[in-house]
Amino acid sequence: MNVNREELLQILKKNLKNENLIKHSIAVEVIMRSLAERFGEDPEEWGVAGLLHDIDLDKTRKIPKFHGVMGAEMLKKMGFSESIVHAVKAHNPETHTPRETLLDKALYSADPMSGLITACALVKGKKLSNVDEQFVLKRFKEKRFASGANREQISACKDFGLSLEEFVKIALNSMKSIAKEIGL
Ligand SMILES: [Fe+2]
Repeated sequence: MNVNREELLQILKKNLKNENLIKHSIAVEVIMRSLAERFGEDPEEWGVAGLLHDIDLDKTRKIPKFHGVMGAEMLKKMGFSESIVHAVKAHNPETHTPRETLLDKALYSADPMSGLITACALVKGKKLSNVDEQFVLKRFKEKRFASGANREQISACKDFGLSLEEFVKIALNSMKSIAKEIGL
């Protein structure tokens, strides 16, 4: 399916009304693009999976086990690739969908990583430029800091071949490259 980024953003904004959730989606998109580059995979495809992974969230907030399942159905109907559809379904552990591909595994960990890094920026004057890798790694260990950013999911980066340090570096640098777009 060939859709340009402007159209992808329109699809996202049509389905998600919360501005912070759109910024979160854009953050996961850029992390996924960087991870794809790191692994010699397709940054376009991985970026789409990141950008649209929460597309059903306005509809599934009250029924968490449907989150990802409904999103996958929506994306399938729109004609996105089976790899994207599967990764979106598998990113929510509550769907009990096995994470099979590198893309599945990367999306599962990139999602909470974007939350952790965003929380780091928020306590540093809302500026990503004030955040370095050591700061993120330190906060990672504080379980009560950004407790919604699931540490086990982030640590699962080892399942796609990255140490936590490498993953933080890639994710932080990628988010810094689009800091303005996400208001950080
Ligand atoms: Fe998400």
